[in-house]
Amino acid sequence: MGNEESVFFSRVLTELTLSFHIIYATIGVGVPLMIMIAQWVGIKKNDEHYILLARRWARGFVITVAVGVVTGTAIGMQLSLLWPNFMELAGQVIALPLFMETFAFFFEAIFLGIYLYTWDRFDNQKKHLLLLVPVALGASFSAVFITIVNAFMNAPQGFDLVDGELVNIQPLVAMFNPAMPTKVAHVVITAYMTSAFILAAIAAFRLLKGSDHVYHKKALFLTMKLGLIFSIGAAIIGDFSGKYLAEYQPEKLAAAEWHFETEGEAPLMLYGILDGQEVKYTITIPYALSILAHSDPTAEVIGLNDFPEDEIPPLYIHYLFDTMVTIGVLMIMVSGLYWLGRHMRWRFIHSRWYRWLIVAGGPLTVIAIEAGWWYAEVGRQPWILRDIMKVPEAATTSGHVDTMLYLFATLYLILGVGSVVVLRRMFRNNPIEREIADREAEVREGTRKGGDH
Ligand code: HEM
Repeated sequence: MGNEESVFFSRVLTELTLSFHIIYATIGVGVPLMIMIAQWVGIKKNDEHYILLARRWARGFVITVAVGVVTGTAIGMQLSLLWPNFMELAGQVIALPLFMETFAFFFEAIFLGIYLYTWDRFDNQKKHLLLLVPVALGASFSAVFITIVNAFMNAPQGFDLVDGELVNIQPLVAMFNPAMPTKVAHVVITAYMTSAFILAAIAAFRLLKGSDHVYHKKALFLTMKLGLIFSIGAAIIGDFSGKYLAEYQPEKLAAAEWHFETEGEAPLMLYGILDGQEVKYTITIPYALSILAHSDPTAEVIGLNDFPEDEIPPLYIHYLFDTMVTIGVLMIMVSGLYWLGRHMRWRFIHSRWYRWLIVAGGPLTVIAIEAGWWYAEVGRQPWILRDIMKVPEAATTSGHVDTMLYLFATLYLILGVGSVVVLRRMFRNNPIEREIADREAEVREGTRKGGDH
């Protein structure tokens, strides 16, 4: 296999691994916070339904964590095997957050284990809830540290390259690079948003399938409220991400917006097609690109014609950007209307079509996560380390990457199907009605035994 082929297969394998891993990683970051909030509401309101929500979500969460760990390990391994030249350089500068990510994960895993095995062991439920704090923190900090590594790839700093030698290495300067604040914030908040809407979709689906249980209604109400808060947060931070790009990676923003000429009063182009440099059939929002880039409707936005041709990212990222933003805005509207509808007692929010819309929100936000990552990664092309190392320079020359690709694709298929089957069985075999009845019986038994003594 020639170098071109090994670069090609390395890229496909990395894309496949990341695209698969990100689904489980996103759930892994967001769901612990949802569990914590549900249990906290349950304790505060003395409402067993919310406590049960926390219990059931925690059980499902364990399965997704397991898949996240396997695929996360695959990424670590593939980084070294497929991109050895990148790891040799970057490893010396940015290894610190990579290690810290592992520690954050251990922190999370240890407390998750204790949390799961100590249900009903505490007389004071608040102490049990406290165990979730390190779980949620560990999960979010895993995302923070690993996103810092990705931010470094977009805005490398904290070292000098003299005759190919790395000197003056400053790991903390490398970590606190200009891409870090917006990337970290956007990744964490969109993980919370996605987890809220996936859990909302499950609750809405149960209601559509005939359950009229108040447990699912409470689950829907809580998750839609959280979804609304986090989706508004995602859009606000997304706006800051746009401003970061305009300043530090203008080619990524210009490619997403098919913005060729550097000019002021730049409009935002939604959808459409590209014919050479002519943009057709788009929805044009006047001044919006200048506002997204610089908070000023007249500000100048750098166009693609100012860059060498071989440093312009693929222009299909326009569709990825549009997909992400469209879903973000749609979910603000769906959850905002739900929240308003609850207050105004609008009946349509309980209608079947509206519930189906909420069900669709689960997979749609996962698509937004995928689109966001593909946009961020493809938009960095041709660089693996911006302005320093191009992707082909970083890749392995091994002749066996294609075999690895087939093997890993099979593994992900087994893990994907396996995790869905296990999760479905887990909840089907223990429906909420039965779990509530069992818990009531346990409480009665406990009271009776207490009375006998
Ligand atoms: C609603 C308005 C939104 C705006 C204006 C926005 C903007 C952006 C921008 C400019 C980037 C590129 C950042 C970079 O490369 O440094 C980005 C990346 C990303 N977006 Fe969004 N986004 C929005 C909504 C969403 C939603 C709803 C999701 C998912 C639920 C999402 C998920 C992501 C992800 C995972 C990335 C890659 C990580 C990163 O680079 O920050 N975004 N977004």
